[in-house]
Amino acid sequence: MLSRPRRNRRSAWIRSAHRETWLSADHFIYPLFIHAESHDLEIASMPGCRRLSPNSTLSEVEGALHDGVGAVVLFPAEPDGHKTDDGRHAYASDGLVQRTIQAIKARFPEVTVVTDVALDPYSSMGHDGLVSPDGRILNDETVDVLVKQAVSQAQAGADIIAPSDMMDGRVGAIRRGLDTAGFSEVSILSYTAKYASAFYGPFRDALDSHPGFGDKSTYQMDPANVREALREIEADELEGADMLMVKPAMAYLDVIRAMREATVLPIAAYQVSGEYAMLKAAAERGWLDERKVALESLVAIRRAGADVILTYFARQAARWLAEG
Ligand code: PBG
Repeated sequence: MLSRPRRNRRSAWIRSAHRETWLSADHFIYPLFIHAESHDLEIASMPGCRRLSPNSTLSEVEGALHDGVGAVVLFPAEPDGHKTDDGRHAYASDGLVQRTIQAIKARFPEVTVVTDVALDPYSSMGHDGLVSPDGRILNDETVDVLVKQAVSQAQAGADIIAPSDMMDGRVGAIRRGLDTAGFSEVSILSYTAKYASAFYGPFRDALDSHPGFGDKSTYQMDPANVREALREIEADELEGADMLMVKPAMAYLDVIRAMREATVLPIAAYQVSGEYAMLKAAAERGWLDERKVALESLVAIRRAGADVILTYFARQAARWLAEG
């Protein structure tokens, strides 16, 4: 045998010298669930994650910075009184997200704050868009509200605006809205290929944001499709997106790869709540080694072509990496 691939796996030095992909805390964005209450709330289906009070949010950001994670993305749990048919609390200048951005930026100006743009936390129907009386999700009317939401987040100090709503044309409208309001330096991270996935279940538990009727399949993508992702890329590029996201990650590695090959823009992937919950649950039963499977899944997402990973493991993974 002339070719013996095992020679290139023989020693730790040879393996690390030939390693094609690696992880660093620089790649992570850490999702935080926030609420206005003064106590934290454990999230049963996401062990290790909590809905954070305003004080705990600042401690968590400080902890993330300490671990080497420099970016967070905020997801608010709003009281029922803030959930209306028109979603107007999404753009309240004194809303929870807006106040939280200001508080984080005042204490830790170096943190990159990413915000979610979608109406589900503010919608009485639990949908990402406005709902017509006959139960359709209204596209263009929703986009007008999303622009106001994005501008109010930028006014509060957000660095990166991440629309997760999947309405058509929202990236371009948000770009124009931001520019007109004087925020041409604020970036857009578009959820380009966001699938109608059951892996979001624990997230919806975390925020009490399950859709009030039906599902999200008239706006989120069909899990069976990949060509459709390329069509979404084309729209987002033309509309001025700065980064493109695939979500979920682990069951969609082929989509990450396809998008990596179809664009020169940076790609982000979201290792969503259900992916985290699966690994945590199996680890709690002693069926999987948490550290090994978490790091393996994160490096696989990078290998597929993601530059940036949104992950609930961000802090823990950064600490594992630092331990070597
Ligand atoms: C809502 C939103 C969702 C997630 C991020 N933003 C849920 C949904 O679309 O229903 C899911 C994140 C996760 O599961 O970790 N716009």
